[in-house]
Amino acid sequence: MTSTLTEHAVTRDFDPRELRTALGRYTTGVTVITASTAGGHRIGVTANSFTSVSLEPPLVAWCPAKRAPSLPDLAQATHFAVNVLAAEQHRLSTQFATPAPDKFDGVATTEGLGAAPLIEGALARFQCRPVRWVDAGDHVICIAEVERFDTADGDPLVFHGGAYHVAAPHPEF
Ligand SMILES: Cc1cc2nc3c(=O)[nH]c(=O)nc-3n(C[C@H](O)[C@H](O)[C@H](O)COP(=O)(O)O)c2cc1C
Repeated sequence: MTSTLTEHAVTRDFDPRELRTALGRYTTGVTVITASTAGGHRIGVTANSFTSVSLEPPLVAWCPAKRAPSLPDLAQATHFAVNVLAAEQHRLSTQFATPAPDKFDGVATTEGLGAAPLIEGALARFQCRPVRWVDAGDHVICIAEVERFDTADGDPLVFHGGAYHVAAPHPEF
């Protein structure tokens, strides 16, 4: 059951918080995008803008904010990894969404393509090569080809309405 819908016109003086709240009704998983610079500095950014795009060829996308301090390093990396977080990894989501000199402190990883860190315990890890960067307002869209991936069983971390949730099977299916 839903309550009555409230319509908002996107005019010049509309409140972006209303749009953010509405967009938050769209439920996503949570990923950490990881990469390494040529100098060996490791980058990790929590992102829920990750999406699958194409199976043939195998393409995915995510949207980094232009103001994200990690963006210049990410744009230089030959590869990045998408680490799909499990429900019990909610603290990693906060850790990689908080600026810090070493975001990987205490995080178990192995090295993937381009030395991108692969986070232990993730539900899936996609090792990707960026193929196109598209300018999009205050974000950019990074489209990338998946070159390797692995998966594990477990419950996903879910993001809805600006808060973390766990997924439950629908009672009618
Ligand atoms: C659940 C969640 C989802 C997020 N999704 C994105 C996203 O898709 N793109 C983005 O640029 N930032 C996103 N962020 C914010 C970044 O994780 C945060 O700004 C981070 O500090 C950026 O890394 P940096 O400071 O190393 O550049 C998200 C944060 C959270 C908590």
